[in-house]
Amino acid sequence: MSDLETLERETLAKIAAAETIAALEDARVAALGKKGVVSERMKALGQLAPEERKAAGAALNVLKDKIAAAIDAKKQKLEDAALDERLATEKIDVTLPIAPSPRGRIHPVTQAMEEIVAIFSAMGFDVAEGPDIEDDFHNFTALNFPPDHPAREMHDTFFFNEKEDGGRMLLRTHTSPVQIRTMMTRKPPIRIIIPGRTFRCDSDQTHTPMFHQVEGLVIDRETHMGHLKGTLEAFCKAYFEIDSVKTRFRPHFFPFTEPSAEMDIGYERVGPKDSGEIRIGQGAKWMEILGSGMVHPNVLRNCGLDPDEYQGFAFGMGIDRLAMLKYGIPDLRDFFAADARWIEHYGFDPLDMPNLATGLSR
Ligand code: PHE
Repeated sequence: MSDLETLERETLAKIAAAETIAALEDARVAALGKKGVVSERMKALGQLAPEERKAAGAALNVLKDKIAAAIDAKKQKLEDAALDERLATEKIDVTLPIAPSPRGRIHPVTQAMEEIVAIFSAMGFDVAEGPDIEDDFHNFTALNFPPDHPAREMHDTFFFNEKEDGGRMLLRTHTSPVQIRTMMTRKPPIRIIIPGRTFRCDSDQTHTPMFHQVEGLVIDRETHMGHLKGTLEAFCKAYFEIDSVKTRFRPHFFPFTEPSAEMDIGYERVGPKDSGEIRIGQGAKWMEILGSGMVHPNVLRNCGLDPDEYQGFAFGMGIDRLAMLKYGIPDLRDFFAADARWIEHYGFDPLDMPNLATGLSR
């Protein structure tokens, strides 16, 4: 076998054996590269006698073309195989369901608010909202606070600077102004709850300058205290997820309700002393959780409703307080400290929407 044939066989074998583009490139350089065997022989042609040179040159050119063609073909094959493999591994089944991997947590206030909305929605209440920045009329006057009455001071109101007309806007101190906004724009029967932010200049373990309330308002022709009590007791059982709840109504004063009452619920301490753990709904101790009463006739009149035709009840409670009680959170200020570890611990799964069918909280 001639020397050239051996060279051809070896080079083609190397090309055939190349499993990767890189190995193929090595084979190409070894044969056709600047210092490759074929190239070296081309260079050596000059030393041959002219008549030999022609035949040897032609034979080398044939070999060179053969090798180049073999490399091209092999390269195509390797590239096709690489593409096939990529297509096989990158295939996605678009009919598969997405695997949920929620990030972040729902804040206990949001959780409590959604639970409260779910409970009252099931009882037929709508959700109403109003502005955080209120005027004196909606926050106080229409709610039957007499001018200069000390009750206005009781609320530790944040006032804005005086306007040109002498009036001052304020941060609403309770959600009750939305009672007024609703009664002035909607005809009874009215059955609404009003969750939202409220503001008072106050700060300690159980008070923050911004907090949350949910207000309830029912206006109809024959509404009485019994409806108020029944509604609130049903709410407490549903919210605290207990079968029975001990409640007590204590006389109280609010300018916008008459009679007025605060509602207490029974509780007892459980667990080791000073653990702060409590059980809601039973026990010998009482805890105040909300203010309530029958809507004052003056308030109805201020909203253009005839108190001889309509009457109703209202209640207001602190959502943050309810969340602390239900989820055993000791300090209210932590709610708004924006501490990622706190929310990781006390927060809720964003894909678990509170509802009465599958349960409020997990
Ligand atoms: N607005 C009252 C408060 O913030 C609560 C309340 C609402 C009382 C409705 C009675 C009726 O203290």
